Amino acid sequence: MKILVTGGAGYVGSHCVRALRAAGHEVVVFDNLEQGNRQAVPPEVELVRGDLLDRRVLANLFRAHQVDGVMHFAALLNVNESVSQPRRYYENNVLGTLNLVGEMMNAEVRKLVFSSSCAIYGTPLRVPIVEDMEKKPISPYGRTKWIVEMALMDLARKGELGSVALRYFNAAGAAADGSIGEARREEYHLIPVVLQVALKQRKKIQIFGTDYPTIDGTAVRDYVHVEDLAQAHLRALEQLNVGEFRAYNVGTGRGFSVRQVIEACQRVSGCRITVEETGRREGDPAELFANPANIQQELGWQPHYRELEPIVETAWNWHRTHPNGFDV
Ligand code: UFG
Repeated sequence: MKILVTGGAGYVGSHCVRALRAAGHEVVVFDNLEQGNRQAVPPEVELVRGDLLDRRVLANLFRAHQVDGVMHFAALLNVNESVSQPRRYYENNVLGTLNLVGEMMNAEVRKLVFSSSCAIYGTPLRVPIVEDMEKKPISPYGRTKWIVEMALMDLARKGELGSVALRYFNAAGAAADGSIGEARREEYHLIPVVLQVALKQRKKIQIFGTDYPTIDGTAVRDYVHVEDLAQAHLRALEQLNVGEFRAYNVGTGRGFSVRQVIEACQRVSGCRITVEETGRREGDPAELFANPANIQQELGWQPHYRELEPIVETAWNWHRTHPNGFDV
């Protein structure tokens, strides 16, 4: 198949581009390069630079490339920023997706894999989280993802589109061969920040909250390797039926605490990590981990990485060899 990957120069998108090509698919990337990196896209892959808010560029893209399906990653994803700049998030994530879907309809492209998030569940009543639990997102970011999922459901019901929403837990790690990885202009996610301390690019890691009702008082998350996420997208695309909407949690089903992550980073890097314990970050649930039974049974997906250390090893290998991201 020929697949359009929006946000294909970003972290998860670029790993999916590689997985698609390894599986024999042809790829075109669409990215505004605000957060993505040109170097993350292989030179043989066409990169169209543009924004989802510019419908004319999108229309031209679908005219120039007859694609069979779309993987849609292009979005803003900083939860805190979404609270201070809600309009920007609704425009980019909701309006941007509706523009994309509109132009897909015009070009009669009917298959979409959508990058959703466990943020749609908000603070869940129970863990592990199953797909049909209540959706009560607690940030504008989470709400934008849930609004898009509801729109995709309605479009599928009308027979206009087939889509799969993948609700990721915490994407982590880097390509096993060390060629691509997480490289943001400003990093705030736990593992890369801890590894920046190991590389002496930061003085310390702040632990946001040590009084959660968890094994060691720090928050627990489900870290899923980015190459496993890419395989989930591939399976979702290959098993997608037009006129159907499906949504899956993508996580390992295991939770690790902030302290466990820091310890794993310390062991893997061999560097001492200076820690400062601070108060909770607003809107952080105590414990989030997936029940991934549905994606395992229905799509046959299994995570290759189940332990924290091997995930951190791939991340460390990337950060150590690319201390300035792609600008080496
Ligand atoms: N944390 C720290 N110190 C830091 C950074 C993070 O203690 O410097 C903690 C956070 O409080 C959280 C955990 O480490 O408990 C993981 O934090 P991340 O920022 O790496 O990831 P989040 O779990 O906050 O966010 C992820 C995705 C979001 C998604 C969210 C859903 O990155 O896109 O899960 O809750 F919306």
